[in-house]
Amino acid sequence: MKTFYIETYGCQMNVSDSELVVSLLKDKGYKHTDNYKNSDIILVNTCAVRAKAELRVKGKLTLYKNLKKSKPDLTVGLLGCMAQRTKDKLLEQEPVLDFIVGPDAYRDLHNLIEKAEIGQRAANVILSKEETYEDIAPVRLDKNGVSAFVSISRGCDNMCSFCIVPFTRGRERSRSDKSIIEEVKDAFAKGYREVTLLGQNVDKYYFEETNFAQLLQKVANIDEKLRVRFSTSYPQDFSNELIQIMASYKNICKSIHLPVQSGSTRILEKMRRGYSREWYLDRIKAIKETLPTCSISTDIIAGFCSETDEDHKETLSLLELLKFDSAFMFKYSERPNNYAQRNYIDDVTEETKSRRLSEIIELQSKLSYQSNEKDMGKTFEILVEGTSKRSEKRLFGRNTQNKVIIFDCDKKIIGKYVNVKVTSFTQATLLGEICS
Ligand code: 5AD
Ligand code: SF4
Repeated sequence: MKTFYIETYGCQMNVSDSELVVSLLKDKGYKHTDNYKNSDIILVNTCAVRAKAELRVKGKLTLYKNLKKSKPDLTVGLLGCMAQRTKDKLLEQEPVLDFIVGPDAYRDLHNLIEKAEIGQRAANVILSKEETYEDIAPVRLDKNGVSAFVSISRGCDNMCSFCIVPFTRGRERSRSDKSIIEEVKDAFAKGYREVTLLGQNVDKYYFEETNFAQLLQKVANIDEKLRVRFSTSYPQDFSNELIQIMASYKNICKSIHLPVQSGSTRILEKMRRGYSREWYLDRIKAIKETLPTCSISTDIIAGFCSETDEDHKETLSLLELLKFDSAFMFKYSERPNNYAQRNYIDDVTEETKSRRLSEIIELQSKLSYQSNEKDMGKTFEILVEGTSKRSEKRLFGRNTQNKVIIFDCDKKIIGKYVNVKVTSFTQATLLGEICS
């Protein structure tokens, strides 16, 4: 039996895709391994969102190139967004690669592996309008068995000018609500106590009259002991109906990731985001009115084309005003052939991008610290997910706001709900004690 190893870069969607890939290959008789050194096949599931993500993958390919020298029968395949973006061009540039397969072509993976074994290098980067892999039961790759990703839609039709995703993941399509409910029920029966519904823009989910708010309600109704999260939301599509559904169910986690990207309406227009600063502020107001304890996180891009110091200041002032609980912050990275690359000039210097990003990070660090400071002395119900990364003796879980709390207790409570009182904190985490 041939063994395969898979490593995953990028977003949660990619993690979820890797779980599908493992399932698809197991069905074809391959054996999954966690050790690349003993593996016959190495699969690299890649991200293309920023140039840096691709550089990391290229670095990894050098390692596999060296490994192949001592193991000439090793098969190496590139999967995911970078594979889709570069297509067969990368087969020419990277002789270590035996095949390339895009996110909609994973059903063809075993054929590509078989071809590679007889020396035929090939690429399958066909994008599909229908593929949702809804009949494939993912093989969960996390070790704890507590929290599962469930993909509900694929692709994206938004066409934000900076983004590569519409080109790498194709058109937006939703999976049937029935297949989603079945997958969630199955995860719950296997002991999972949290699911995160995934899509590039979950708010656009729509399947035969079921919209996202209704889907969320159906999932929340499965069992009150099952926590439900979702990612990623899009400001323009974030509906009041969704806010109401979130308010009606205790087991829908009070945490929203709502990427704003910039605080300047002029830049948002250039980004083709379809909303203004005011619109975004209004959405946050609506959320806070109905869900006062809900945490909100965001994504920010520093130094987009033509961004001035004034625009940048508007981003800083938006952060200060809204006091996000956390944020992912990036320097703008030009991506080949998308709208921004074809129509604008990447004219903010690297030095300015770096300075602006540092200012954004510095401010957000202060705000994240303040957000955690407010939790001191409070008791939260948390779902225990596993042992902490730093020490096997410590456990960690999350509260409904998606904040990680670290505490000491016996491992047997992994997968259970417990109350933990926050006794200290850092900017990144809360530390606590279990309440009996
Ligand atoms: N450069 C920098 N950041 C980007 N993102 C998407 N495209 C780019 C790009 N070209 C960021 C956005 C998005 C997150 C997933 O990655 O903030 O929300
Ligand atoms: Fe995920 Fe986007 Fe990266 Fe693709 S390009 S892996 S969709 S973050």
